Amino acid sequence: MRGKDVRLDKVSIRFGDSTAVQPTDLSIHAGEFFSILGPSGCGKTTLLRTISGFIQPSEGRVLIGGEDMAGKGPNERPTALIFQNLALFPLMSVAENVAFGLEARGMRKADRLKRAQELLDLVALGGFGDKRPSDLSGGQRQRVAIARALAVEPAVLLLDEPLSALDLKLRQHMRSELRAIQKRVGITFIYITHDQGEALAMSDRVAVMSRGKLEQVADADTLYAEPATPFVATFVGEQNVLRGTVTSLADTLAALDTPIGRVEGRVKGPIRLGEPALLMIRPERIVLGTGGVNAVPVRLAARNLEGPSVHLQCAAAGQTLTVTVPNGPSVRALPDELTLSFGVEDALVFPMGTLAHG
Ligand SMILES: Nc1ncnc2c1ncn2[C@@H]1O[C@H](COP(=O)(O)OP(=O)(O)O)[C@@H](O)[C@H]1O
Ligand SMILES: [Mg+2]
Repeated sequence: MRGKDVRLDKVSIRFGDSTAVQPTDLSIHAGEFFSILGPSGCGKTTLLRTISGFIQPSEGRVLIGGEDMAGKGPNERPTALIFQNLALFPLMSVAENVAFGLEARGMRKADRLKRAQELLDLVALGGFGDKRPSDLSGGQRQRVAIARALAVEPAVLLLDEPLSALDLKLRQHMRSELRAIQKRVGITFIYITHDQGEALAMSDRVAVMSRGKLEQVADADTLYAEPATPFVATFVGEQNVLRGTVTSLADTLAALDTPIGRVEGRVKGPIRLGEPALLMIRPERIVLGTGGVNAVPVRLAARNLEGPSVHLQCAAAGQTLTVTVPNGPSVRALPDELTLSFGVEDALVFPMGTLAHG
């Protein structure tokens, strides 16, 4: 099977007066594992259904393999869609489920079952063809649904939160399964999820979406280390957020006057002297002691053990700073009053904007 690239050219989608997807340009490479990550209601499913042909865009074009999909329905596109609700047929065997779509294509029964067997081998369910879906675990049923979707040889597989019905352990296991299947098959996967762990673990690249708009498209490391907007900074991973006023501004560095004093950070967007801005620092980039340029005296309010690491809740001037440090003897013997510090490189300064969590 061969993957195809997917291109959105100024695609917008409206339902009546409300805009579900703002004008969007996006290029997804052939053979890429691409995720669209965002909170519930941000427009992920709408975007995916537009790629699959169940929804026509209000404006703009969808191109798959360079071909304009305008006017083409789901069955005329080289795509297959997997929903959260897998909708396997309970009275058919696993092999019959996988072969189901091939009958409509006029393939003979013997060929259908042979093809089903190949696909079951591909998803590591070779011995399960004669079983019923109800005999399988949740993760195995998930793989049957993938095999069934692959039976029609799509160039692009679209997955709409397919793991969200599974329990946590299975979900984590299925991340590596899905990634391995994608590598084996080699086609383009477009995976949508509200779970950042899933998106970051599996994807070549991730688009972070909020309120119908793509905020940033990048690989996982870039999203985490160099978020482009306050929304991405706070949606992906944990973040301490300080509000302040810009008191000095050079090319790439700014100082803010915040409730905890003057802090310096790297400029991540258009900010102006004398105006409000946001400073963000990750809990694991704050250190105990005075090592960094930005030093803050705090009172230790709580200590939450997380096994290998410890989250310290520290209070300063009505603010709470969360600090993540490795667990160890020194953390157990911390005084109530301490100094925290962090480097300028690790503190990001954004213009005011929408945050992911309030
Ligand atoms: N068929 C529809 N008619 C009207 N509004 C819709 C329709 N489908 C989705 N919406 C709206 O579009 C927005 C995005 O929905 P959706 O794409 O399902 O988000 P997500 O998948 O990210 O949770 C929501 O506000 C939703 O209510
Ligand atoms: Mg959805």
